[in-house]
Amino acid sequence: MKTDKIRKTFLDFFADKGHEIVPSSSLIPADPTALLTSAGMQQFVPYLSGKIEPPYRRAASAQKCFRTSDIDEVGDQYHHTYFEMLGNWSFGDYFKTEAIQWALELLVKEYKLPQDKLWTTVFKGEKGIPKDIESIETWQEAGIDTKKIKAFGMEDNFWGPVGSGGPCGPCTEIHYDRSKDFQKEKCSLNGCGPNCSCGRFVEVWNLVFMEYNKTREGTYEKLPAQNVDTGAGLERLAAVLQNKSSDYETDLFLPIVNTIKELSQISEKQEDSEKAVRIIADHMRAVCFLIADGVIPSNEDRGYMLRRLMRRAMRYARRLHMGKNFLIPICQVVIDVYKGQYPELQKKQNDILILVQSEEEKFMKSLRDGLKRFRVLVTETKNQDKTVLDPQKTFQLYDTYGFPIELTIEMAQEKGLKVDEKGFEKEFERHRKVSRAGAVHKFSGVGEWGDRVAPQHSATHLLHQALRDVLGEHAHQDGSDLTPERLRFDFTHPKPLTKREIKAIEDLVNKQIKRDLLVTVEKKKFENAIKAGALAFFREKYPKEVTVYTMGDFSKEVCTGPHVKHTNQIGKFKIVKDEALSSGVHRIRAVLTGSTYVPKGITVFDSKL
Ligand code: ALA
Repeated sequence: MKTDKIRKTFLDFFADKGHEIVPSSSLIPADPTALLTSAGMQQFVPYLSGKIEPPYRRAASAQKCFRTSDIDEVGDQYHHTYFEMLGNWSFGDYFKTEAIQWALELLVKEYKLPQDKLWTTVFKGEKGIPKDIESIETWQEAGIDTKKIKAFGMEDNFWGPVGSGGPCGPCTEIHYDRSKDFQKEKCSLNGCGPNCSCGRFVEVWNLVFMEYNKTREGTYEKLPAQNVDTGAGLERLAAVLQNKSSDYETDLFLPIVNTIKELSQISEKQEDSEKAVRIIADHMRAVCFLIADGVIPSNEDRGYMLRRLMRRAMRYARRLHMGKNFLIPICQVVIDVYKGQYPELQKKQNDILILVQSEEEKFMKSLRDGLKRFRVLVTETKNQDKTVLDPQKTFQLYDTYGFPIELTIEMAQEKGLKVDEKGFEKEFERHRKVSRAGAVHKFSGVGEWGDRVAPQHSATHLLHQALRDVLGEHAHQDGSDLTPERLRFDFTHPKPLTKREIKAIEDLVNKQIKRDLLVTVEKKKFENAIKAGALAFFREKYPKEVTVYTMGDFSKEVCTGPHVKHTNQIGKFKIVKDEALSSGVHRIRAVLTGSTYVPKGITVFDSKL
């Protein structure tokens, strides 16, 4: 069965059982505390936690997901950074019995998997949460042999929450027995079963019974409703249904893998190169989807993950002796494979190709020199009979050659060496402190101008929010500089601004000025500020407690001030220039006229920040 059919069969099956089919949400989640969407349930958290009354009691989706937790495993048969999760949900409607019966019905009747190949795992009880007897009995009644129902603890059979708190619960997993032929290592049959490392079993579906809420203090309380949250990895399911020994041989991956092989002209069966091909295929697929959803390469948060994936792909590509600009044809195949199901890929094709090409050019230049530097460092370390790389020099690889630290760690491991991660952190901190004074000037606008730039500063907050409203959530601050004469604001956005967009941004800012919004300020714990929806993009630069400026219902941002008291004092806002600094980063210059704000004098710069 082709993957498109597998996806459709899943959704049709649950639509027939009264489920609302909900489109995949973006990889950039609505919840500002989560970096990326890593599970199908994320868009439903408000329903699962009981905070919002759900508009339907049953839902199903095929969700785009991204996880870095498995990045070290990528290259084996089944692990990915980006993947699609098929799932069905009950919000206080059906519970364990139906969820289990339907999962079995779909796998056996629709997908035609032999039932005797299915094993299951259940929660054995731990931390005051009881053993999941109901699931065991339901599996038994459905005809699963008791020998094939295995109980595990929290580690394996309790899912969630996504962040530090939220909905979670015991889960029951369905594993497919691919028979001994697939075992990587010899395995004693007695102890072998789901979760065995021999490779014989593959987990195809996870059914979570979300009846708990984990509080931020770490205790579990019962949720008001009993919910179901399930997730089946589409790629794995495809490998099982297409009887392939890995996801990379399914129709989803094969065109991508073949293109990489052609571009690299490697000889077929080298295990090492097979792994490199898979890593490149996995990472470039993730890169395309992330960019299509508005992530732009940078050194912060999501942008950093994206950059790291591209750089990792490029390093493996070098091993395969791939030539220049090889990432572009790979992206084109990814877009081709997925454009039917995910039209955003084709819509954003230009963004994808432009950003990928420019990252490739940038990194390729420093990669060659950086690798030389790395080899020297390895020789030096070995000559000194050491096993750990010098942290200062490790930092240099990061700072001068743009090597993500994870890349250096991996390369060191391949040479039997280690990275002093604590030492690296210290070095990182030291450099940040040196550049921080400058950075704070840049980002807060205080310093030499003191209170005199309050109107420009407040206008910057309005501009920041207006950019996000007009251009999309991906537009975020990349730097800012203020003088009493003008404001300058750098932000991420992958293409030129149109006249119409500039006008819309300007109008929106002026509208908020005219509304004369009250500017209020409060101290909050950083986490709580983010939870309250405040914008903050330089996450690690902030102390535990931060100041949050709110302008009516329009803008909320973590910042050190100073600001006007109400927005009317800003005067009229006009954009005088828009230029692209590099692909993906723009600079806007704007001026204010008719500001009525009277500066109080010079505010002393708060060195704590
Ligand atoms: N939320 C569950 C998972 O991600 C279904 O496995």
